[in-house]
Amino acid sequence: MAIFLDTSKINEIEKYHKMGIIRGVTTNPTIMLKDGITGGLKGIKQQTVRIARMIAPYPVSVEVTTNDPVEMTRQAREFARWADNVVVKITIHGPNGELDNLEVVHDLEIKHSVRVNVTAMMSAQQCLLAAMAGASYVSIFGGRVNNMGYNVSDEIVKLRKVLDAQSLKAKIIVGSTREVLNIIEWLEAGAHIVTTVPNLLEGMIVHPYSKETVKMFLDDAGKAEAAMNQ
Ligand code: E4P
Repeated sequence: MAIFLDTSKINEIEKYHKMGIIRGVTTNPTIMLKDGITGGLKGIKQQTVRIARMIAPYPVSVEVTTNDPVEMTRQAREFARWADNVVVKITIHGPNGELDNLEVVHDLEIKHSVRVNVTAMMSAQQCLLAAMAGASYVSIFGGRVNNMGYNVSDEIVKLRKVLDAQSLKAKIIVGSTREVLNIIEWLEAGAHIVTTVPNLLEGMIVHPYSKETVKMFLDDAGKAEAAMNQ
């Protein structure tokens, strides 16, 4: 079981990496744009290499920026050369349901030894087929699934059962976290990994009653010291 950070912000990654609590990083084009990464592929490369160096040997996932099968393969092979711990994200299918992507995934994993994280998935059945195609990671978007009105935990339970039954190598990543409780909830359901936004990780650590308790300890330590000096 592991927690990844779903961000491309160097300061956030550094903060939690130094605590020893994250085992990888995931990004996507939307995250990169939101985090101010500009300059096209050059900008993405620069940021990815910085992250990869910081967290090595833990993996960083970076997504291709095209849905053209030839260009997806070319980009994926290029990204994989940036660092040993780069994993390439490929979406399950194209924006109109184009079916080329799983063949690309299969070729990248089998012919080119590129580790692939198949992404943008909303169901156990999509993840199962991505795992069968040879993906190293299968990413299901928990918050988005829950927003559609069904519980992603049920999908995670089913998925883990069928992956284990067939000894498929794919690790389940559940992303799209929305609430602090999602992390434990989805790991407990059977996810190998939950990738979370940084503020939820802070929410897991900081508790109002812990704050009050720590304050009491410090105040009393101060009083005891003052009494000793009288
Ligand atoms: C996971 O790998 C994705 O980067 C991410 O969790 C998507 O989350 P969103 O639904 O908040 O966009």
